[in-house]
Amino acid sequence: MTTIPRQVRVVEVGPRDGLQNEKTIIPTAAKLRFIELLNTAGFPEIEVTSFVSPKAIPQLADAAEVFPAVAQQPGTRYSVLVPNERGMARAVAAGVAAIAVFTAASESFTRANINMTIAESIAAFRPVVATARAAGMHVRGYISTAFGCPYEGAVAPAQVVRVAAELLALGVDELSIGDTIGVATPNQVTDLVPLLAEQAGLDRLALHFHDTRGTALANVLAALHLGVSTFDSAAGGVGGCPYAPGAAGNLATEDLLYMLHGMGIQTGIDLAAVVRASSYLATIVQRPLTSKYLQAAISARQTDIP
Ligand code: COA
Ligand code: ZN
Repeated sequence: MTTIPRQVRVVEVGPRDGLQNEKTIIPTAAKLRFIELLNTAGFPEIEVTSFVSPKAIPQLADAAEVFPAVAQQPGTRYSVLVPNERGMARAVAAGVAAIAVFTAASESFTRANINMTIAESIAAFRPVVATARAAGMHVRGYISTAFGCPYEGAVAPAQVVRVAAELLALGVDELSIGDTIGVATPNQVTDLVPLLAEQAGLDRLALHFHDTRGTALANVLAALHLGVSTFDSAAGGVGGCPYAPGAAGNLATEDLLYMLHGMGIQTGIDLAAVVRASSYLATIVQRPLTSKYLQAAISARQTDIP
């Protein structure tokens, strides 16, 4: 029986996973202000943007302006998504030192998202990962739709394991296993994680939950009991993939931190600073964000007796 990790790495993906899914295009200056506020929270890693086709994701077309303008803090890794060699060249030109390549466990989603088969995506990543490794960059490999696909429904753990093996063979440093549409339940986590842990090692495994159906924290808890110690989340609970119909926000960073800190698990991240970043973002996207902790913090503030 694995004991629950005493320390957890929380990777903030709001500036990428969150902002890619907003209907309106957020001004570059507002993205930078959001990242600046996130920077005060002390994250070990922030996923800043994507060097993907601006036709696929117009929301992040300003990646080459955003990335170099981020005031990088010591102790924080600043990563970006890269789908192909074109994106890698743009990332290198912008001064990026950590990338993430991304494929999926289901063919239909991979086609919709990056217009490739899974095998083509692995072939496209081969030169990208080789360039990254030669430059000493950290490389993460995402596997989306690992617990369910918006087009195909159920996804077998064996399929995730197969894709994981291919990414590991390319030389990625870390796998992030995504519940892109937020369908996973804890028993699925319990089924899949041990297989991936055996393949990659627990310390190279991150889990990326969306909270579409309210199961994200339950899934985190199941994963903690299996020894997983890296989780992705987005400030305020923003997020989703425009090519995954029905996908709602990422697990909210505030909700994750509240649970972890309450359990005595250290993250090194300042929850109040995350609330400030989300509160700012809410004014930019002009809608209330879904994080339960954030909502509770806002209503407590409103009912404070002066
Ligand atoms: N950066 C900027 N432009 C790029 C690019 C990149 N990384 N990759 C391709 N392009 C441009 C091409 O130059 C081409 O432009 P043109 O029409 O002006 O000639 C256009 O995008 C299409 O390129 P092509 O190589 O034919 O790719 P595609 O249409 O098959 O799309 C991807 C493949 C991977 C580039 C695209 O699907 C993509 O960027 N997807 C990302 C989706 C995403 O980020 N989802 C959320 C994360 S889960
Ligand atoms: Zn996501």
